[in-house]
Amino acid sequence: MNNINPTKIAVITGAGGAIGSGIAVKLASEGYSVVLTDLKSDAVQSQSSKIEGALAFAADLRNESEVLALLDFVTEKFGTATLLVNAAGVFFEHKLTETTVEQFDLLIDANLKGTFLTCKTFIPEMIANGGGSIINIASTAGLYASSTRPLYSVAKAGVIMLTRSITVDYGSKGIRANVICPGLIDTPMADWITSRPEALKAWEANLPAGRIGTVEDISKAVSFLASENSSYMHAGIMVVDGGGRP
Ligand SMILES: NC(=O)c1ccc[n+]([C@@H]2O[C@H](COP(=O)([O-])OP(=O)(O)OC[C@H]3O[C@@H](n4cnc5c(N)ncnc54)[C@H](O)[C@@H]3O)[C@@H](O)[C@H]2O)c1
Repeated sequence: MNNINPTKIAVITGAGGAIGSGIAVKLASEGYSVVLTDLKSDAVQSQSSKIEGALAFAADLRNESEVLALLDFVTEKFGTATLLVNAAGVFFEHKLTETTVEQFDLLIDANLKGTFLTCKTFIPEMIANGGGSIINIASTAGLYASSTRPLYSVAKAGVIMLTRSITVDYGSKGIRANVICPGLIDTPMADWITSRPEALKAWEANLPAGRIGTVEDISKAVSFLASENSSYMHAGIMVVDGGGRP
């Protein structure tokens, strides 16, 4: 592979999905060699085929051996990753008293365990290479309790604390970790409300920004956190939610 800048090698999880693929496009436009990874093989292949020089790797990030295979793939194809963006996640509305153990496992594992495993796997290589940056995508649901999302909120609160804990233990070794908390973003994951025009209108009327967020709103935040412009931000919680709950 030609033209690889060894200081700009990014792995983006959930990149078969809306936000992850948008982040990959943005980072590639800024000179990153990008590896897109997702559980959904067809989706991640399709998204990566739209980006020149990008590579796709299908993996279930809940499975440690698949995350180790991802690490090997990135190292072999591009070199040591300098940026890890965790955007993989699962959301569905649920009420605590009606949630099954299988649903509990899915919400916690897809949102938190996968992020734990990629961080665990990539941090040692980054440190050995002189350092790197981690940007985890949590949610405002991890900051504030709201209806019909208790375990998603718990998982995202875990992602926030995981990010801050990484900074405490590995910040001085060159790992700069920050977390983004999006509010409602217009992707298929937000179908639960965007499919109900009246409910969406009411939601947007309560937002100072007057609209729900876009994939670009999040990819611009990632771009900033990945750049030198944010070099003094460690363990930062960046809320990108149109002013949802000031
Ligand atoms: N859309 C929103 O309103 C919103 C708001 C706040 C936070 N977020 C977070 O942003 C991130 C991206 O969301 P999106 O809106 O692009 O959703 P999306 O469903 O389009 O993308 C999520 C992707 O994660 C992948 N994924 C799920 N489990 C996985 C696993 N075990 N291994 C590998 N990949 C897996 C899915 O296949 C999917 O492609 C998620 O973490 C989500 O929780 C989204």
